[in-house]
Amino acid sequence: MDFKSTIRTVPDYPRTGIMFRDVSTLMADAKAFSSAVEKLSAPFEKFEISKVAGIDARGFILGGAIALRLKAGFLPLRKPGKLPYRTFSEPYELEYGSDALHMHVDGVKPGERVLLVDDLIATGGTAEAGVKLLRRGRADIVSAVFLVDLPDLGGARRVRNMGVEVNSLVS
Ligand code: PRP
Ligand code: HPA
Repeated sequence: MDFKSTIRTVPDYPRTGIMFRDVSTLMADAKAFSSAVEKLSAPFEKFEISKVAGIDARGFILGGAIALRLKAGFLPLRKPGKLPYRTFSEPYELEYGSDALHMHVDGVKPGERVLLVDDLIATGGTAEAGVKLLRRGRADIVSAVFLVDLPDLGGARRVRNMGVEVNSLVS
């Protein structure tokens, strides 16, 4: 499966000079989406993953599908003001701005085996915040999984430097 050809590139979105990799076109393609979920899940079949943590918002789509495939629970890591119960919060810088991620304080149990999932890793700031949140809950992060890695932005290296394995489908 040629996943790259299913991802649309939109120049100058959301700012001039940014080549935006639009994974909505991969997700809209039935064969590409199911094949992507299969390929990203398969390595973890034997790992007894108990939870998939998906990052707001496109990480929910991919993470939900991977959770179902691995018969794992799903944990949303959300933008501020979205989770109703008490949360841990981690701020982060983006390629184009800054934000924060929240996780319910009881989102993971200590030692729980978790996969961190998002659609794309660029600078790695978002994924790093996700790793920090899961570690505040003392989860065992088995891997961080992405459809797309933009290697020039160094995010995968940054997450690996935190001691977390990174898997992606397309660079
Ligand atoms: C995008 C993408 C990742 C993040 C990657 O999300 O879905 O979560 O940026 O960038 P980074 O590696 O430089 O942190 P965005 O913040 O655009 O949010 P959205 O999913 O709600 O559109
Ligand atoms: N596509 C989608 N999300 C992103 C991108 C991109 O190119 N860069 C940073 N977040």
